Amino acid sequence: MTTTKLLLRSLRGETLKRPPFWLMRQAGRYLPEYRAVRTKAGSFLDLCYNPAFAVEVTLQPIRRFGMDAAILFSDILVVPHALGQALRFEEGHGPLLDALDPMADLHGLSLAKLHQHLAPVYQTVSDLKAKLPAETTLIGFAGAPWTVASYMIEGKGSRDYAKAKNWIYTKPQLFQRLVDLLVVATVEYLSAQITAGAEVVQLFDSWAGALDHVAMLQYSLEPMRVITEQLRARHPGIPVIVFPRAVGPGYLDFAQSGFMQGLGLDTGISPAWARSALSGSFALQGNLDPQILVAGGDVLKRSVESLLGNFGSRPYIFNLGHGIVPETPPEHVAELAELIRHGL
Ligand code: CP3
Repeated sequence: MTTTKLLLRSLRGETLKRPPFWLMRQAGRYLPEYRAVRTKAGSFLDLCYNPAFAVEVTLQPIRRFGMDAAILFSDILVVPHALGQALRFEEGHGPLLDALDPMADLHGLSLAKLHQHLAPVYQTVSDLKAKLPAETTLIGFAGAPWTVASYMIEGKGSRDYAKAKNWIYTKPQLFQRLVDLLVVATVEYLSAQITAGAEVVQLFDSWAGALDHVAMLQYSLEPMRVITEQLRARHPGIPVIVFPRAVGPGYLDFAQSGFMQGLGLDTGISPAWARSALSGSFALQGNLDPQILVAGGDVLKRSVESLLGNFGSRPYIFNLGHGIVPETPPEHVAELAELIRHGL
């Protein structure tokens, strides 16, 4: 099968004259039209679970900037929610879950209603597929087991992951069962997104860098490898991008394992190092500092030039090194799109 979609070509190992680009968290609060829909929807979760609103905010950055890919609008925490864990988003506090109680084992979590709960997300994917421009690739996503488990155990974002790591080191069997449950749920969830029309999926392991190397291999790389393998057995050829943020030299383990079609680099990784050390037929993705996009101007121009120079000779997808921040001026995103599409 041949395709002209740039993102799919990069993920098949082609080196392109100009790389495809999209931005992590490209829909969001930096856009006034997002804030308007968000207000109409009421809560953040109402936005995630309402296909009409979720489709609209997914399309907003594509209309403005023409990224080569749209990423489904949702959140990584809808999976624990679908497994039965209470979840809410409070203004200014980020996500809050009723933290898992190790004494209660994993009772209270169940796969039984997973698809029923997530049906609105699948609806959003299929509506998007019908509405996107022909050249735009649709990306589905999920959180990786370690990052999702950390929220389930801590109940919120954490600075040190003390509770989650305490499970790893004092209740390893319980922690492994939680990871195994999340592997099954994630394969089911992403498989349904692919059936609904997602053409690529990305696994976000945002907090992989908090783990020591041995735990990183066991709880970040290995579950993502198993998820990728199972998805590709069910959906031959589906490209998977993994983003094990802040693992440093741990990226070498991902490159050597080589199971993925795209490897997302965080802001801290040197492009010159990545180009020489992370060889393979997979595409590298990243890794402009989101704060450089806030700054704009000369530093933006120079940084884009340097990324294109470093990665121009291998399969590459232009992206940020982490999600776009709310302070980003939309004009800087327009400038970035112009730099990538029409050169410097
Ligand atoms: O990329 C996209 O445009 C798709 C949408 C998307 C969101 N969250 C929307 C969102 C994606 C891919 C995510 C992933 C996600 N969610 C991650 C992994 C990626 C990363 O950035 O590390 C994580 C860790 C979460 C959990 C989460 N959701 C947090 C910690 C927060 C609060 C922080 C914040 O930015 O407010 C959220 C809320 C959230 N998810 C918002 C958006 C647009 C902001 C909510 C709002 O509009 O009030």
